[in-house]
Amino acid sequence: MPALRIAVANQKGGTGKTTLALNLAAGLQRRGSTLVLDADPQGSISQWAALAGDGTRLPPVWAVPQGEAGRCIDRGAREHRYLIVDCPPTLQTTGVREILAGVDVVLIPIQPSPLDLWASAEIVTAVRDSRAANQQLKAFVVLNQLDSRNALSRSMHEALAELEIPTLAAGVARRAAYRSAAVEGSSVYHLGQRGAAAAREVEAVIEEVLKS
Ligand SMILES: Nc1ncnc2c1ncn2[C@@H]1O[C@H](COP(=O)(O)OP(=O)(O)OP(=O)(O)O)[C@@H](O)[C@H]1O
Ligand SMILES: [Mg+2]
Repeated sequence: MPALRIAVANQKGGTGKTTLALNLAAGLQRRGSTLVLDADPQGSISQWAALAGDGTRLPPVWAVPQGEAGRCIDRGAREHRYLIVDCPPTLQTTGVREILAGVDVVLIPIQPSPLDLWASAEIVTAVRDSRAANQQLKAFVVLNQLDSRNALSRSMHEALAELEIPTLAAGVARRAAYRSAAVEGSSVYHLGQRGAAAAREVEAVIEEVLKS
């Protein structure tokens, strides 16, 4: 079976790319061999992996050298069932476009405010451009740091509905567990009861993506 290659991207900083990428990777690793590609020169996800104790079974992380994203994706896809690519918060360099050209799915984390949604317009354009060459590319918005899905403002609902990229029904709440997992070099799956609610919502994201 060919590998499923998933990028987590948004040129806006701090929307939850790395948080989502590392927890998705931990959940996918329970299903099959998973590789994380750290395409962000900040190296956040590599730092997280370096914190992991021996007992934490985390997927391997490769740091992607500048200009090597396509090649790393191809190589990783030959060796693993799932690939997660954590993207840098920029579209200024060729990196993210090269990644969008080489993956099956791009997930775009957005915080649930219209301002944050509007700030993500450039990644939406980049996805559209990528489809000229990568016609199969699927794209979904993932709402992150939700207080409550029901509390989404009407303007947010309207803004999401107008976006040409669909929003996953599964969203991610704002929870201390995500921060704890990052600090501890683990994932919400490794936090036991403390991470149970978070792990359930990450599972829902994974299931929705796998069915798409
Ligand atoms: N669902 C969440 N609940 C609580 N805290 C969160 C959640 N998602 C992200 N955070 C926190 O928000 C901050 C930014 O998240 P993260 O580093 O994942 O964003 P990013 O998009 O990767 O940032 P950058 O653009 O700098 O790469 C971090 O401190 C992270 O712990
Ligand atoms: Mg990041």
